[in-house]
Amino acid sequence: MDQTGKELAGKVALITGASRGIGADTARAFAAAGARVALVARSAEAVADLAGEIGPQAVAVPCDISRYWEMEQAVANCLTAHGRLDILVNNAGVIEPIAHMADADPDAWGQVIDINLKGVFHGMRAALPVMLAQGGGSILTIGSGAAHGPVEAWSHYCASKAGALMLTKMAHKEYGAQGVRAISLSPGTVATQMQRDIKASGINPVSQLSWDDHIPPEWVARTLLWMCSDHADDFLGDEISLRDPDIRTRVGVA
Ligand SMILES: NC(=O)c1ccc[n+]([C@@H]2O[C@H](COP(=O)([O-])OP(=O)(O)OC[C@H]3O[C@@H](n4cnc5c(N)ncnc54)[C@H](OP(=O)(O)O)[C@@H]3O)[C@@H](O)[C@H]2O)c1
Repeated sequence: MDQTGKELAGKVALITGASRGIGADTARAFAAAGARVALVARSAEAVADLAGEIGPQAVAVPCDISRYWEMEQAVANCLTAHGRLDILVNNAGVIEPIAHMADADPDAWGQVIDINLKGVFHGMRAALPVMLAQGGGSILTIGSGAAHGPVEAWSHYCASKAGALMLTKMAHKEYGAQGVRAISLSPGTVATQMQRDIKASGINPVSQLSWDDHIPPEWVARTLLWMCSDHADDFLGDEISLRDPDIRTRVGVA
């Protein structure tokens, strides 16, 4: 915080999957808290629109996180625009194509791993040298209950989220002592395009939930903002569940 009183004043955040849903609301919340933001997604027009909405403190960085060289360039573009990188939000993720294992297309299954698991590694790999040189930073990764238990027709998603949680633990193990704050957030179900895709599949109990069962993406954004502060330090190298009523109270949502 500086003289503006804003909690992320002077900080720079790179947010993946910022074209809509949780990522877009996180960009809005972080910018409102004073951060300069880099908005990463494949949809160039959508991130450009959001950067325009937020104003000069935002830069749009079209990028496919499944390709390391694109992620590395995205971090370089963030540094060019904003001069530093304090917070990485590994939020981008996909769930399609939803399929049982015996029917799944192997290439499409692998593409989900490339985005949800390798994309998280790519973000960490590109951001860590910058953060270490700066003396630390926060790496917040959107996890899922699917990391902990099997969900029918989601083998790609469950496997990728389980792996991504381990990457948070690894980042903490290797760099926690050097000031890197790695934390995962399992949000519960959130009212975004991803839940529309899940509902359209009609396959498992999650697809049967009603829209009112989902929390708004702004709650996730507010939780991520809270996770940037030392209030969340009990969870370094671990996962926070937004289903937990105590966490909701601490964050101030619900
Ligand atoms: N919604 C839920 O109930 C729920 C529950 C638990 C966890 N999550 C997790 O929350 C995160 C955000 O999901 P959401 O609910 O906000 O879904 P969403 O509305 O579908 O947004 C997904 C975002 O990821 C981006 N993305 C996908 N593939 C990408 C790639 N290869 N490179 C760069 N960006 C990519 C998309 O943008 P482009 O298509 O423009 O690239 C979009 O901005 C995901 O990690 C998801 O697994 C969601």
